[in-house]
Amino acid sequence: MVIQIPKETSPRPFLKWAGGKSKLIQQYIPYFPNNYKNYYEPFLGGGAVFFYLQPNKAILTDINAELINTYCCVRDNVNELILLLKEHKERHNRDYYYTIRNNSAGTDLEKAARFIYLNKTCFNGLYRVNSQGNFNVPLGRYKNPNICPEDLLRKASKALYKSDIKQQNFLDVGNYATNSDDFIYFDPPYYPISKTSYFTAYSKYCFAEKQQIQLRELFAKLAERGVKVMLSNSDCEFIRKLYSNFNIYTVSATRAINSNAKKRGNITEVLITSY
Ligand SMILES: C[S@@+](CC[C@H](N)C(=O)[O-])C[C@H]1O[C@@H](n2cnc3c(N)ncnc32)[C@H](O)[C@@H]1O
Repeated sequence: MVIQIPKETSPRPFLKWAGGKSKLIQQYIPYFPNNYKNYYEPFLGGGAVFFYLQPNKAILTDINAELINTYCCVRDNVNELILLLKEHKERHNRDYYYTIRNNSAGTDLEKAARFIYLNKTCFNGLYRVNSQGNFNVPLGRYKNPNICPEDLLRKASKALYKSDIKQQNFLDVGNYATNSDDFIYFDPPYYPISKTSYFTAYSKYCFAEKQQIQLRELFAKLAERGVKVMLSNSDCEFIRKLYSNFNIYTVSATRAINSNAKKRGNITEVLITSY
């Protein structure tokens, strides 16, 4: 069931996230299924679709452990998290950013506050780690970054209240989504549309052709069980061929993240459904 709620009162993503779907939701609305009981989002990222749908029962997963820890802290300890973020906000400057960036120690709550602080102040809200797993995105150029979006965090906390949130590979969703009561929205790292467009925004977790094919196999297996499956990806021959047995809709998007400024602009993407 798709619920329409006025924007100012509705929860929204509290993170900037590469590939975030906030701007595409309006085009997705006609394709969300009407009836389902359990919602699964295995490539959670900023969670734009989850926050829009606000399902009663949700299982939210992502392979990024720091991201998942942050969601758990927003759900379980939003007041303490806000206090820590206010501290970051007060102390924020260039040197402080690099001090925090280079020190990943702390409690889960401190790590979540650090994650949000870096997300709001780093270049384009990117998440990238080096081979040792250390966050290495430089400081962004924001005059007044919104380091502690208190209202957004409180709304997100309420929306997440009943959700099951865990770190997982996307393949695991195949173990528990079993029938037509289940709706899964897959938003994987996109298949690159050209050699130069390959952008490793999600860093150490490689998502190449092999994973795209595994995802297609999983999509087909779930669809066969009657699970309602929806997936976003880039609009290219490889993806269109891979999902040629399913419904493929074209949506238009603006490409915000591309290392080549000339390649930013309007493009099309696909939205695929099994139902
Ligand atoms: C396109 S983003 C999702 C964006 C999200 N829908 C939003 O609105 O912000 C893709 C996500 O997939 C996650 N990811 C990458 N490889 C994965 C894997 N093998 N299993 C699960 N999640 C993975 C990344 O950490 C990233 O958060």
